[in-house]
Amino acid sequence: MKLTIFGTGYAGLVSGTCLAQVGHDVLCIDIDASKIDQLNNGEIPIYEPGLAELVERNVKAGRLRFSTNAVEWIKHGIAIFNAVGTPPDRENANKADLKYVQAVAETFGQNITEYKVFINKSTVPVGTGKMCEEIIKRAIYAREKDTEFDVASNPEFLREGTAVQDFLSPDRIVLGSSTARAKKILDEIYRPFERTHTQILHTDIPSAELIKYAANCFLATKISFINDIANFSELAGANITDIAAWLGMDPRIGRNFLSAGLGYGGSCLPKDVKALIETGKEYWYEFQVIGSADKVNEAQKKIAVQKLTHKLGSLSGKTISIWGLAFKPETDDVREAVSMTVIDDLLEGWVEQIRVFDPVAMESMKFFGNRSDKVIYCESNYETLEDSDALMLLTEWDEFFAPDWKSMKKSMRWNLILDGRNIWHKNIVEDYGFEYIMIGR
Ligand SMILES: NC(=O)c1ccc[n+]([C@@H]2O[C@H](COP(=O)([O-])OP(=O)(O)OC[C@H]3O[C@@H](n4cnc5c(N)ncnc54)[C@H](O)[C@@H]3O)[C@@H](O)[C@H]2O)c1
Repeated sequence: MKLTIFGTGYAGLVSGTCLAQVGHDVLCIDIDASKIDQLNNGEIPIYEPGLAELVERNVKAGRLRFSTNAVEWIKHGIAIFNAVGTPPDRENANKADLKYVQAVAETFGQNITEYKVFINKSTVPVGTGKMCEEIIKRAIYAREKDTEFDVASNPEFLREGTAVQDFLSPDRIVLGSSTARAKKILDEIYRPFERTHTQILHTDIPSAELIKYAANCFLATKISFINDIANFSELAGANITDIAAWLGMDPRIGRNFLSAGLGYGGSCLPKDVKALIETGKEYWYEFQVIGSADKVNEAQKKIAVQKLTHKLGSLSGKTISIWGLAFKPETDDVREAVSMTVIDDLLEGWVEQIRVFDPVAMESMKFFGNRSDKVIYCESNYETLEDSDALMLLTEWDEFFAPDWKSMKKSMRWNLILDGRNIWHKNIVEDYGFEYIMIGR
């Protein structure tokens, strides 16, 4: 089938590539000409394991193309996916900014000349499908045409770091539509995924839109729940690692998202939690549980620097090393990463230097992060430690699990380690002569 995808970010590029991989003829559009140039030159603008190989293979096969020419290439697909960003609104950071989605709906309405279905893959507040339908209708009427179209919803559940695998073998595919014609097209697009025993769920558009928020808010709540228990564990002399392990063995609960740490970050959970709370307000509804999950998380992101300050007395004049900037391992995404909050808080405490390293997220941090010249980007995790007073582990990249403790000890000026993800063993770290701060242990 011929498909056009708007947005070649994490969601759009992975979706487009994987849809090409199962045989569809996919054209990806972005307004960012530099991204499209990179893609047309065989470069991948984001770090996502396995993606580069798949892009190369499908481009070679002629099933995957990239362009900035929306007006021309909207003609290509019978289905037009909208996978553009829905970041926090600049004027009200608790709301999703829908201007990019609206722009795509507008382009769709202004340019289609025959029936097509407009599919929202971006995470959009419930009611956005209806809003897109009205934008499209107005744009078609303005041209004095009566071209038929449908709007549908197909929220995306891929996780950065395992996005390709998640897209190719999903647990479920959610398809929201309101006409038999749209439903048939959605079915045809996703039929190739039935062979992986994926559950395909057809529903109405508002339910499809809300399922995505419900899923993300549930995961966020699980993380905040375990962090709440972790904070209390510290006071009560209990160990959150044991508690989470045993708790997770209960099949009613499950082990995933029960690792205590410094709170959730990233481009999805924080913004989706806040956006659902905000959408609730439009209906005079207050989300009590989700509101608390959000509050716990905001406080949790501050805990690392509070703990450090408590140990060091003052941060003024100190040199702090940071291992890990990405919001989680296996991605270069630093949007709303805990490292952002930590760096801002350290700078507020008048530290002398923050020496940082991340295996893949250094460039993203230089672009999105605090531009202070006190933030020093180092070549390796060990280089961050030179004359440092404390090390903060913020992202649990594989390569940080078994470090060379002896050489670390030699490089550091002082011997404090804050493990924000509880990846090391207390006895081992302390045997090497470090003072070790953990979360909930
Ligand atoms: N990142 C994830 O893991 C993930 C997972 C599931 C769902 N989502 C959702 O998918 C959506 C996109 O997220 P993302 O992380 O891919 O964002 P992103 O910021 O990485 O990418 C968005 C892309 O859309 C492009 N764009 C903006 N306006 C455009 C237009 N008019 N025409 C064409 N392209 C345009 C931007 O230039 C950018 O390249 C969001 O709603 C997000 O919540 C993301």
